[in-house]
Amino acid sequence: MYSRENVIELLGTAKPGHTLPQPFYNDPAIYAFEMWAVLPRSWLLLGFECELGPPGSFLSLTVGPHPLLLVRGRDQVIRGFHNTCRHRGAQICPPGIGKLSRIVCPYHRWTYDLDGRLVGAARMPENFNLRGHELSPIRIELLEGCIYGALSAPAPDFAPFRAAAAPYLRPYRLGGAKVAFESTITEKANWKLVMENARECYHCSTSHPELKVAFPVMFSGGLRVTDGSRNAEYVEGMRKLGLAVGPEAGAWWHVGRYPLNPGVHTVSVDGHAVVRSPLLRASAPIGGLRWATEPNSFCHAFGDYAFMFAAIPVGPQETRVISKWLVSSDAQQGVDYTIEELTAVWTSTNLQDRDLAENNQRGVNGLGYRPGPYAQGAEELVIRFNDWYRAAAIEGL
Ligand code: FES
Ligand SMILES: [Fe+2]
Repeated sequence: MYSRENVIELLGTAKPGHTLPQPFYNDPAIYAFEMWAVLPRSWLLLGFECELGPPGSFLSLTVGPHPLLLVRGRDQVIRGFHNTCRHRGAQICPPGIGKLSRIVCPYHRWTYDLDGRLVGAARMPENFNLRGHELSPIRIELLEGCIYGALSAPAPDFAPFRAAAAPYLRPYRLGGAKVAFESTITEKANWKLVMENARECYHCSTSHPELKVAFPVMFSGGLRVTDGSRNAEYVEGMRKLGLAVGPEAGAWWHVGRYPLNPGVHTVSVDGHAVVRSPLLRASAPIGGLRWATEPNSFCHAFGDYAFMFAAIPVGPQETRVISKWLVSSDAQQGVDYTIEELTAVWTSTNLQDRDLAENNQRGVNGLGYRPGPYAQGAEELVIRFNDWYRAAAIEGL
């Protein structure tokens, strides 16, 4: 088992620009340290406002060991809580989405209002004070339809990310979109291997034949996703549409627009739009918008749909990848889009990435593993992830 001192020592041996020492990818004690000291101090993409309809709608998910609950209150406000009862700590809501009028613990029926206040606790003594036993809140920030949450107070200031990203996201009106499809894939790999893979396209041209039809896989390793020769023309075209290109970045986030391959409208099997009622209508191809946050998410929005990828740690060598496809709420399944066309490319890409991450884990677990160097250009975003991680881990200590 690794003690705090061991973690400090190990972190000291981690070289910038290199993969981490082996225990960071497979050791239960390091994983436990991250789940208590790194993840809770970060902003996690938890879902979308459109997933929480009328008051009482909830979304429940577990990140690492932490069960979480998002609920829309009677006042329409979306609140986040630890999904842990204040009686004897049972998990209250099962994972998934649903609707309730009160939040009732299944164990002894302690009952909370939608704002987290405890309103009923049968058979407790008469002088028992309901106040002081409300659900523990988590911090929530809404960004143009996206819901980010932080489990504990020392998470970084959200304001710079909001200020930079909101103007990019606003034209897609994700607040009024709908989740057309959602998938969950379990990967037998540490969450950081999953994320390192998600932060580069060094592997894409050989591993993602479907993705590379539309996505500029050779130019997407850095903050700026572009073939330099086409960039000036793209920037000018976007300027005429009133769309900034960026990129803009902070230590734990980045956002920017990019051109897709020539003549391509969206990431689909043949590059043609797959949703007839778009999120953002434009006369010419507008490329993609990417926004990504450490530790665990990236999203792309195209004219016709948006795609979310979130890696949720499950164990030292297990990660759940949640993907969501958002379309305009006017778009009708079977009329304006089919799930198959909408999801084909990212589903193949996700499964290919699962195999890559699991294969990476097998190699990393062996006696022969030594931290290796990242490619400066092609793995710029992995280097950023690695820099963020080492800094966050030191802060967590
Ligand atoms: S643990 Fe929830 S009511 Fe007892
Ligand atoms: Fe990939």
